[in-house]
Amino acid sequence: MLFDNRIAELRIELNRHNQLYYQDAQPEVSDAEYDRLFRELEGLEKANPELYDPNSPTHRVGGAPLEAFEQRAHLLPMLSIDDLFSEEEVNEFFKRLQKALNLEKISLTVEPKIDGVACSLIYRGGSLDYALTRGDGNRGDDISQNVRTIRNIPLNLKNAPPLLEVRGEIFMPSEGFAKLNTQRDEAGLDTFANPRNATAGTLKSLDPKVVASRPLAFLAHGLGANEGSDMANEDDFRKLLDNFQIPRNSPVWYVHTLDEILTAIRELDNKRHDLGHGTDGAVIKLLNFKERETVGFTSRAPRWAAAFKYPPEQKETLLKDITIQVGRTGVLTPVAELEPVFVSGTTVSRATLHNQEEIERKDVRIGDTVIVEKAGEIIPSVVSVVATKRPENTPPFHLPTALNYKCPSCDGPIEKPDGFVAWRCVNFECPAQAVTSITHFSGRKALDLDGLGESVAIKLVETKLASSPLDLFSLSLNDLANLHLDPAKSSDGLTQSKERRFGEKRANTLINSLIKAREEIPLSRWLFAMGISQIGESAARELSRLHEKLSILPESRIVADLADLPNFAELSKSKRKKENHPRLQQYQIDDNLGPVAAQHLRTFFRSEAGKTVLEKLRELGINPKSDNFAPTPTAVKEGRLFTGKTFVITGTLSAPRQEFKKLIEDNGGKVSGSISSKTEFLLSGEGGGSKQAKAESLGVPVIDEITLNEMLKS
Ligand code: IVH
Repeated sequence: MLFDNRIAELRIELNRHNQLYYQDAQPEVSDAEYDRLFRELEGLEKANPELYDPNSPTHRVGGAPLEAFEQRAHLLPMLSIDDLFSEEEVNEFFKRLQKALNLEKISLTVEPKIDGVACSLIYRGGSLDYALTRGDGNRGDDISQNVRTIRNIPLNLKNAPPLLEVRGEIFMPSEGFAKLNTQRDEAGLDTFANPRNATAGTLKSLDPKVVASRPLAFLAHGLGANEGSDMANEDDFRKLLDNFQIPRNSPVWYVHTLDEILTAIRELDNKRHDLGHGTDGAVIKLLNFKERETVGFTSRAPRWAAAFKYPPEQKETLLKDITIQVGRTGVLTPVAELEPVFVSGTTVSRATLHNQEEIERKDVRIGDTVIVEKAGEIIPSVVSVVATKRPENTPPFHLPTALNYKCPSCDGPIEKPDGFVAWRCVNFECPAQAVTSITHFSGRKALDLDGLGESVAIKLVETKLASSPLDLFSLSLNDLANLHLDPAKSSDGLTQSKERRFGEKRANTLINSLIKAREEIPLSRWLFAMGISQIGESAARELSRLHEKLSILPESRIVADLADLPNFAELSKSKRKKENHPRLQQYQIDDNLGPVAAQHLRTFFRSEAGKTVLEKLRELGINPKSDNFAPTPTAVKEGRLFTGKTFVITGTLSAPRQEFKKLIEDNGGKVSGSISSKTEFLLSGEGGGSKQAKAESLGVPVIDEITLNEMLKS
């Protein structure tokens, strides 16, 4: 084969550059050159599928999503570790080892306990065969696809033994974690509570591309199964890791007495906040493998190791004020403004108080002396109040009162929907929410405005060209063309290109999609685009089935009846169902639209903000129409074949799953991700393997596309 050599050469070369870049921090080539080699390899691999290798560097960016993780047995059980909470307990642990080994002086090591997710890497014949999570200790999830995207894990080892199992921790470095959370916050997504959650959450993703986009890293800390390498102690193992350039945990203290152990634990405590990742303890281990065998295991943990847990550092400080932040989705978050204190390695001057309920639970008041710590050693939090230090006559804090029931950013109305803990600003035009609402409004599932992503939305808001979504319809071609964007980042990250303009071409495209949105985009997408709380895509779709155009929604009898349903005629709970309501039953409203959504919709239309929006739409002459209007009983019966039926889709079908989902939903059905006995049908395409087996075991009928079509026709 002509390309064998070139493919092999490119794989080696790209692996070498990965190593230089991610581990040695000494890149030899520019990003552009790397990309060129990468694309060449990608092209050759595509043209020569017989040369497929799961450990090719092209898999670092992630391939196709999985349906579910397969489970696999561990070669050796992955045990837990006993915790030690005091110096006294360290002493007892040390004495137990002395006794078991019948030795005065023992060789031990002390090293950081990394706060991440345990992972086992199996290398066979020098290439990464698979990777498992700990699972229940005997079986774990096969997360190979995800692990292959972690850049500092080598996928191939040179001159490796037949079998090598490397155990270690996958974690998110502190810097990458902070960056990820900032990005998520700015995108209006939930942030992760700590790096460990971010790591665990990321590794659970079935889509390796998601994992590839997150800054995960690995450090080895233990040997599992092993064939073909002779190792007498952990030091030999460390040398082997270094030899294979597998990154390992450090620093390590070599100790022999109780005093030395305790000193190492203290030294590590002073250092651990500078390691760049979360640590929650110090692991103490016997150095020699023979001695480990002698002391052995209990059923859950080895006797030759233990983890000293550091108590989180706590400090007292003064709570000077409570300010309220308006998030980009309108959530109002109380923030403690603190007299700065040094805690766990950094100075803390602010901490989130989460919400009013949390403030009441801890009874936090302005002027209190509070105890702060860093949750997960990263995020500052107020643990409790020192009640004895509270000044006399300190009033309790009540968020809405403090704000006079007005949003601090726009003076708009705030509300706390039933069942929610957060107060939020409900003004669709609130400037604090402008970027989020404009970005959502222009998203693909909303009005699909070409060229209007987040960075452009930021600029439009910054330059005051738009402060709410509907302002977009007043933009001129000229305004848009001359909009200044931030300089583009060049691929080598070194050269700075000139400032950029949005330009005539993109301005034209955007104006055209605005015209299209005005005239063609159906009611359901408009309703979704408006970002009304609780009105997601499916609820919007059902609303548009029941209403011909937007202008009739504020007066809708259906919405009013639905919103009143929970109190309807003081009926017993079991009767308070849509099906029993004299006016609602004829519409056969599906589960995607319920009383809560209707209440939110009504609140919106009744609010000042909602009225302004309707007024603006009238002025603009915009009145979106339904494209699935079918409220009459006959139409309902004919068109709603699958009402109350839940489908699960698996395997490869002749069109994207999204389309089948829509087809089922348009006929009243629901699509869910997992099979249960409540599933009506499994729609299965090519390769629907594991789900098909599950469906069969539960007696859920499996149908194919053709059968689905026939059902729809009949
Ligand atoms: S060695 C099983 N060393 O702690 C006994 N474990 O091990 C040997 N962990 O979830 C454990 N950092 O993934 C060891 N430096 C370290 C560690 C470490 C974190 C995790 C490990 C497992 C738990 C118990």
